[in-house]
Amino acid sequence: MTERKKIRIHHFKEMKAAGEKITMLTAYDFTTAKIFDAAGIDVLLVGDSLGDNVLGHGNTAAVTLDEMIPHVRAVTRGTERAFVVADLPFGSYEISPEQAVASSIRLVKEGGAHAVKFEGGRRVAAQAKAVVDAGIPFVGHLGFTPQSENALGGRRIQGRLEGAYDALLADALALQDAGACLIVFEMVVAPIAAKLTAALDVPTIGIGAGPGTSGQVLVWLDMAGMADWSPSFAKHFGEVGTALAAAASSYVSEVKGGQFPDQAHSFPLARE
Ligand code: KIV
Repeated sequence: MTERKKIRIHHFKEMKAAGEKITMLTAYDFTTAKIFDAAGIDVLLVGDSLGDNVLGHGNTAAVTLDEMIPHVRAVTRGTERAFVVADLPFGSYEISPEQAVASSIRLVKEGGAHAVKFEGGRRVAAQAKAVVDAGIPFVGHLGFTPQSENALGGRRIQGRLEGAYDALLADALALQDAGACLIVFEMVVAPIAAKLTAALDVPTIGIGAGPGTSGQVLVWLDMAGMADWSPSFAKHFGEVGTALAAAASSYVSEVKGGQFPDQAHSFPLARE
């Protein structure tokens, strides 16, 4: 694995060529961004999964650009090495290339994002090209696209139907031609995601898409065992939710029982 002081856009193709996996996790605040950056994560994604995981909206479609920006700012402030990608939320890019550029500029200028991501293939290729032409790196998102959950008929695994590979390839090629630096494939059956990765120049990032992509992304609360529910593809690499609940209940019981604060956690009148 090559040591890199700061992850830059050209490193993704180098990593794909060298067979070095690209690591991506979501982050929504300064503290977790700092922890993940120090752990060596290559890409931090301020996803619109902010809606379900942090803001309590229950979906991603409700998230607004104004809600995204303070979280993007907090993550970029906590990051030294990772490449920070910010999601354009539903309704902030679909209307026209001009709308996509204007929204992306806000994420870069006000949030400090290094790149933007939005969902869709051929239908948003003009938006992707306009963003890249404006000097902003673009990350695509294909397969299951949560902003279109209603149109897709729910959280459905992608790539199983007749013709699915050809449609995904056409979408991915449109984004690659538009200048995408990465493409996320979500909930795409593993052999199709691997075949797409081999057919594309642009590196791919999988989430529920098997081991054959150029890298992997997970929502950090799923990865760390923090969420009430997590998808079956999201391995728990820790049980942070259980540890946090135990810490909070010890705090409650020690404060109620008068054990906290003790002498060690109080200021005496005079220094010893
Ligand atoms: O918003 C998000 O967290 C995402 C990932 C699931 C890829 O888009």
